[in-house]
Amino acid sequence: MKTIKNTILAMALVCFALSGCSKTTVETEAPATLKSALADKFYIGTALNQAQFTGVDTASIRLIKEQFSAIVPENCMKSEVIHPEEGRFDFTQADRFVDFGEANNLFITGHCLIWHSQTPQWLFVDEQGKDVSREVLIERMKNHITAVVSRYKGKIKGWDVVNEAILDDGSYRESKFYTIIGEEFIPLAFQFAHEADPDVELYYNDYSMANEGKRNGVVAMVKSIQEKGIRIDGIGMQGHIGMQYPAIEEFEKSLTAFAALGVNVMITELDLTVLPSPQGDVGADVAQTVKYQQEMNPYPDGLPKEVEAAWTARFNEFFKLFFKYQDKITRVTLWGVSDGDSWKNDWPVFGRTDYALLFDRNYQPKPIVNLIISESELTGF
Ligand code: G3I
Repeated sequence: MKTIKNTILAMALVCFALSGCSKTTVETEAPATLKSALADKFYIGTALNQAQFTGVDTASIRLIKEQFSAIVPENCMKSEVIHPEEGRFDFTQADRFVDFGEANNLFITGHCLIWHSQTPQWLFVDEQGKDVSREVLIERMKNHITAVVSRYKGKIKGWDVVNEAILDDGSYRESKFYTIIGEEFIPLAFQFAHEADPDVELYYNDYSMANEGKRNGVVAMVKSIQEKGIRIDGIGMQGHIGMQYPAIEEFEKSLTAFAALGVNVMITELDLTVLPSPQGDVGADVAQTVKYQQEMNPYPDGLPKEVEAAWTARFNEFFKLFFKYQDKITRVTLWGVSDGDSWKNDWPVFGRTDYALLFDRNYQPKPIVNLIISESELTGF
């Protein structure tokens, strides 16, 4: 039987007995971490905020170095930050993020090149404020993708090329990219990214992927990219999950449907909210917010034991699923390091106290961390 890696193995070696010296030496094996325990399965990643990659949040940095093997920027590579005006790029934060990843030998994913949200309005309009033509938007999109991808060529190993372009019913989101260019904007984005760095991996990333409609829409869209002979390496299933949603069986159906396309599957943006949902239990649409109400914030001072146990069990079920499909999953990335950082504290209701991540507000591992580590031992091939 395999030993459980997360127990500190303390071996007292009595030198006197072994070598005749009079000293007693105690050798300790470092406790297993998420990164070490999952090394033969998939990357275990986290999203980084500015305080982390600039070295301010030292408690988080310690955890990132110790526990994680991959990083993705939570915000600093979004086009509103990196390309605020036509002809002006601001790579200040993005460069620091990439430097952090390289210095700490982390697998770096870029997030994200084309997204309807957090995109500067200039991209879509002319000097009169009218929508630009299809040709102009394609040219601007190409210019954006080429500049960003080529800057980090060889450093960033994979890009979320297009983010959240398909709706829950499987239809295309009526973003400006879609209404001006048509559905071709997606294969074009992948093509431009590939031309800028032929070695980088290219992903489609979206939320609510367990929904049947979205599953079918994404499968059809990815097939159409493949049929054009354009490179796509993976599908990111955003894991913004709740206690009741999604049904794990539906998540599994999507995971296997995506893997059947011959691409890698990544679990991205993983967090598990324990708070009630005011608007039905799906999604991660940042535009959908709800006014604060006291009853929507039931645990401001900590989780009751039984709620914490239920949260742990739910998270554990998902990790068991990830272990089951470890041959298809290349990366599991949490959307943040510790609970205090999580966007879930402010969405869909601003100012709540959520408990969505693997480390608590004091940067301590929750019981789920040791569970993941010990179960990873039992699920090797
Ligand atoms: O940059 C300003 C800063 O100058 C200001 O001081 C601060 C005060 O409110 O706001 C800052 O901007 C916020 C930014 O996060 C950085 O903290 C924005 O208001 C806020 O809207 C933004 O939210 C991010 C959101 O995407 C929108 O970009 C969340 O942190 C981030 O977790 C979330 O991530 C998205 C993924 O990219 C795509 N999938 C869904 C996921 C969750 O919505």
